[in-house]
Amino acid sequence: MGVRMRLTTVETVYEERSWLFTVRDQHGEKEEVILVPCTDAVAGSRDDAGSGGGGSEGAGSTGAGSAGETTSSDGERGGTAAGAGTDVEAWVNQCTHEFQRLDRGMGAAMRDGQIICPKHGSMFDACSGYCDNGEAADTTLPSVEVAVDGGDVYLTDDELTFLHSGGIDEGDDGDGGPSSTSHLSL
Ligand code: FES
Repeated sequence: MGVRMRLTTVETVYEERSWLFTVRDQHGEKEEVILVPCTDAVAGSRDDAGSGGGGSEGAGSTGAGSAGETTSSDGERGGTAAGAGTDVEAWVNQCTHEFQRLDRGMGAAMRDGQIICPKHGSMFDACSGYCDNGEAADTTLPSVEVAVDGGDVYLTDDELTFLHSGGIDEGDDGDGGPSSTSHLSL
């Protein structure tokens, strides 16, 4: 269990659409996390079960009886298992495709309950973190454990230590020193 750290309120997350903060992980590395509203009311359940039409040829004689229509428009499948009583989820603030922050300090772009990557436009489900489209298709954002209690959101991930709200850069408000640690190799 460990200590839980109060981050902000659910209301704030919903108002601002995403709430950025910085943590320190087990290895002492800083990492950015975003809180996003998870509303399963907009669970985009578009599953086109487009199974290819089998072209089986029946060596039939003069029988005109092939009117087998299978219109099975099934209902919606309860998409994400987002029922843990939380309506705020937390994800590492980085696209799974390339190194790209989802929230660049101005709030993440969101539409229909999905987080939109600003670089190539892949969209991640805010509730499940899963992406089924674009460059980042078939990947899931790394999750961070949070809990909602009494309208407040708490960080409950034992492996992470809350440092401050905002992005990594906003923490050390140095006076613009040129001490950027570039990490280029060849
Ligand atoms: S960097 Fe996010 S989709 Fe390419």
